[in-house]
Amino acid sequence: MHKTLSVINTLRKIIISILLISLGCIPLFKCKKKNTSKKHVASFYTHEYMAVSARKEASEIGALILEKGGNAFDAAIAMHFVLAVTYPQAGNIGGGGFMVAQPAGENPVALDFREQAPAKAQENIYLDQTGNVIPGKSVIGHRASGIPGSVMGMYEIHQRFGTMPWSKLIQPAIYYAQHGFVLTEKDVLELQEVIDELDSINGPNVFTCNKWQAGDTLKQPELAKTLKRIAHHGPDDFYRGETSRLIIQEMQTHGNWIDSLDLRNYKAIWRTPLKGTFYNYEIITMPPPSSGGIALLQILFMLEKWNIHTIPFQSLQQIITVAEAEKMAYADRSKYLGDPDFVDVPTDSLLSKSYLMQRLNQFGIPSKSTPSARIKPGIITGYESEETTHFSVIDNKGNAVSITTTINSAYGSRVIVKDAGFIMNNEMDDFSIKPGIKNQFGLIGGKANAIQPGKRMLSSMTPTLVKENGNIKLIVGSPGGATIITTVLQQLLNVLIYKQGMQESCNQPRFHHQWVPDILYLEETWKEKQELLDSLKMAGYTIQFRPPIGRVSAILRTQDNRWEAGVDQRGDNAAAGK
Ligand code: DON
Repeated sequence: MHKTLSVINTLRKIIISILLISLGCIPLFKCKKKNTSKKHVASFYTHEYMAVSARKEASEIGALILEKGGNAFDAAIAMHFVLAVTYPQAGNIGGGGFMVAQPAGENPVALDFREQAPAKAQENIYLDQTGNVIPGKSVIGHRASGIPGSVMGMYEIHQRFGTMPWSKLIQPAIYYAQHGFVLTEKDVLELQEVIDELDSINGPNVFTCNKWQAGDTLKQPELAKTLKRIAHHGPDDFYRGETSRLIIQEMQTHGNWIDSLDLRNYKAIWRTPLKGTFYNYEIITMPPPSSGGIALLQILFMLEKWNIHTIPFQSLQQIITVAEAEKMAYADRSKYLGDPDFVDVPTDSLLSKSYLMQRLNQFGIPSKSTPSARIKPGIITGYESEETTHFSVIDNKGNAVSITTTINSAYGSRVIVKDAGFIMNNEMDDFSIKPGIKNQFGLIGGKANAIQPGKRMLSSMTPTLVKENGNIKLIVGSPGGATIITTVLQQLLNVLIYKQGMQESCNQPRFHHQWVPDILYLEETWKEKQELLDSLKMAGYTIQFRPPIGRVSAILRTQDNRWEAGVDQRGDNAAAGK
């Protein structure tokens, strides 16, 4: 079996090399070797450039584009499309996402290519006649999808920052769709979880036509055709042409509201990134419709005021301090955050020193759990009213790109667009479908995140950059639904405060509190620390163990000016570069 795998891998490398040589690329790359027999991989460093993602194929292609002279944006576009093929549980053209980037010599930028509610969607579409939520309707099947934004997002990035031809950047993805990619053990396990739904919703399809095993090659010929059209016609194909016709046909015959006008009108939106400071570092992160940036900056502010640098790593006091700050930020998220084009999000107030100091003083330096029922969203004066994927790229030209993209759940709504071969998102569940009712991540919301025609659902995706003395220090992000924000937060704390390497930081066990439910979530590995767990219970926390939190793909500038990859072993993440 191992021999077969290594032959397949060698063949694959040769074929990619030939493909890329034909594109004028010189395949000189190193890829992080995975050693699954060890618990943790060794750190991977480069001097010039690096690409890190949830899939080896995508990272390799990113590095090849960089080697060929493309910039980090070119690499990111190619990686996005490769992930849409080789990581179908989250990589996508049927979803959306956010980019935070530092273009060389310019101000940082943020791009919102989040999905949108169709124009015909109303606040109560997931409720029955008595006003109760219809279980599963916003999560599984055709009605769960919003208007996809990824293809427009990639095109918008290309228009503004791309240097290589659009169609060439999509060739590697077409190659993987036509010739297949090799399934990993994790791929197979994740596929098994949704296989019945994929089958019952779509009938026979590429994902369910075989009893897949690790090492098998999965081909997606229909997706290859769609990608060829997108390579040739750009977003016109997806939003106005043949692919849009297939999307509308698929959606409308099954009761979704998306129509041709929705697709024609879709726009990716450049937004002003949020900036904050944390000790001597500059944090650049995603504004609404993500909640991630605001929550991250709020928590960092509180932790700095509570002198987190004096509190030992993974001590009782550290967990309490971080969890209490998290509760306050998630409480605010529930009330104030939504699509800024529809609701008046009080970003400045929520991040103002006076507001946050008032929040801090209300509870004092935490030494125990304050029950969530006692923590309410703050009062703002003048206010009126597990699957996603992240990839990080740095080039040798001064560009840094941080992109998180999603179809929400693993395999999204489980709907595969007929004859187009791609999976539609189930992002409508990220709206607050009824005030106070939890979504699939246990998050609650209200008016600010209620469904409205054309509105973008609130997200937790937190693509983030950190600068030190004006230079890029860290590029980071993660999947994980509600846990994205706290996963990104923990990477910042680990490397900036506790001076860990990027890989070391990724390897650390994670914890998470989101205010409601009033539970401190811990990864299973914390079970080894019985004394700490007893102390946490004594401090008033209800503890729940849960499966791995997040799958970080990050790049850190080291003290000796190298790039270090953060390759999360919770997934099949990989880094490549030189
Ligand atoms: O935008 C969001 O916050 C969610 N749709 C992200 C979903 C996610 O990360 C699932 N992954 N585990």
